[in-house]
Amino acid sequence: MEIAFSIAGARRLIGGRDGRVGLVPTMGNLHDGHLALVRACRAACDVCVVSIFVNPTQFGPNEDLESYPRTLEADLALLDAEGADIVFKPSVAEMYPDGQKDHVKVTVPGLNDILCGKSRPVHFDGVATVVAKLFNIVRPQQAFFGEKDWQQLTVIRRMARQLDMPVEVIGVPTVREPSGLAMSSRNGYLTEQERERASLLYKTLMSVKSGLEDDLRTQMSSGAEGRGYAKLVQAGFDVEYLEVLDADRLRRTTKDTTHWRILAAARLGKARLIDNVGLER
Ligand code: PAJ
Repeated sequence: MEIAFSIAGARRLIGGRDGRVGLVPTMGNLHDGHLALVRACRAACDVCVVSIFVNPTQFGPNEDLESYPRTLEADLALLDAEGADIVFKPSVAEMYPDGQKDHVKVTVPGLNDILCGKSRPVHFDGVATVVAKLFNIVRPQQAFFGEKDWQQLTVIRRMARQLDMPVEVIGVPTVREPSGLAMSSRNGYLTEQERERASLLYKTLMSVKSGLEDDLRTQMSSGAEGRGYAKLVQAGFDVEYLEVLDADRLRRTTKDTTHWRILAAARLGKARLIDNVGLER
């Protein structure tokens, strides 16, 4: 495994390899969820490039940029064991040479200001901008993102399509703890007690899903969404949203919608948790 700290270095390493290039963008502090992306990348591509960059522009002023866990040594050991070929680990100055304020911004209208974008107004512009840069630096044929961050995956897909980027964006299913809790670097902010309760988020999404499936069968609305919301509030979650949307456009479902997505964000103690599940009809 080779490591590049500069854009020129990454291009040199990638240029020296043959075959299809796959990219897995991450912010480090890697867990099994990230490693599932690396595995998918290795299975589909000849060269697996993993980026590790805690991107400042996707954090709001009161968010956890400073305290976000940085664990480079452990990350490199995991990536080496998983068979990644090239790690790109740039500095903030390398990625934003003219400063963050004066940098070009990629905005995906209609997707950046809904769901998580309501409480995190700069987040998806920051994500789209840094991923566009990573695509230009690495020039992958395929790029791998987790379904755990469904809105992010949707933003990246639309950006790549509308800006005619020659990359195929691949979604990888969410990796969960045995309790059902979606793996996340931010789960480290949970106390042991909270961690147990946190698995209720996924269980609630699954119960909303089965309620909706019943509704679709009986063609009656039983208020599954509202019941799920109430269940989370009752369990002590500070619920930001729980919504049932068209999975591809993140708009309200219609009678023609075939791919549904049930998405939620909720705070538990110091952690902000997000999760989602799909429903096909
Ligand atoms: P990060 O939170 O490090 O996540 C990197 C990738 O791992 C994302 O595509 C995310 O969806 C995926 N991932 C995280 N937890 C997962 C899980 N439990 N199962 C499956 N996939 C999971 O997301 C980001 O970084 C950043 O926004 C980034 C895309 C790197 C841009 O800065």
